[in-house]
Amino acid sequence: MSANVKKLINQGKNIKVFVCPDYETLSCEAAGVIAGVMLSNDFPVLGLATGSSPVGTYRELIRLYEDGILDFSRTTTFNLDEYYPLSPENDQSYHYFMDHNLFHFVNISKPAVHVPDGNAPDMKKASLEYEAMLSERVMHLQLLGIGGNGHIGFNEPAESFAKATHVVDLTQSTIEANARFFASIDDVPKQAISMGVGSIMRAKKILLVANGKAKAQAVKAALEGEITPKVPASALQMHPDVTFVIDEEACALDESLWTAF
Ligand code: F6R
Repeated sequence: MSANVKKLINQGKNIKVFVCPDYETLSCEAAGVIAGVMLSNDFPVLGLATGSSPVGTYRELIRLYEDGILDFSRTTTFNLDEYYPLSPENDQSYHYFMDHNLFHFVNISKPAVHVPDGNAPDMKKASLEYEAMLSERVMHLQLLGIGGNGHIGFNEPAESFAKATHVVDLTQSTIEANARFFASIDDVPKQAISMGVGSIMRAKKILLVANGKAKAQAVKAALEGEITPKVPASALQMHPDVTFVIDEEACALDESLWTAF
């Protein structure tokens, strides 16, 4: 743990927050939490996320693997989500992202890697099959990013929390936020397949990473606001073991509710 990381806990809600001075520190801290879970389980099962937030975390995990500290040969992974329709070979797919940001650089076995199929002929069936695979395992840790609108996975603000893997219509704000990864906004798929909030909440431990001021409001609402499906990440307040690793810009906490630990 770096000395300049502020560790806070919201006593009422039992959520831990590590506030890091910069993205590099955040990435090292998050990778350290994942490494701890990998080292304390013989056959670790990890839920993984894509997007810009965890890129540094994956870079750090690769470094720990290259240094001989981590071994991925017994690790199984399940990714949160995938665009629909998009083939795994498409360089904007989350399949492709995971290959190029983590899987190609560590000794994970291909059959142990699971990413929802964004190209399945029957998406409802694909969602049910993915959820069935998830329910056969206990995820030791689920890594999350958070959308500016409070989404986790592709669970967008809604009237109720989605229990299981499902097909989602992406909101305009998510399409606009993700357009930066595509040639034009028209190329951003309008749908996705995503684990539900219920699937995420079954993980034993949840680790959320967020950086930059565009995330500050969503982080605050998730940690301190009302628990509501209008802010999907607020469901995490009901989980017994959640850690947020965020940078100072993403931190807009009401300090009076938090104590150092
Ligand atoms: C990605 C995912 C999304 C992202 C979120 C934040 O698998 O599930 O919920 O975590 O959109 O994305 P970034 O990190 O790009 O800001």
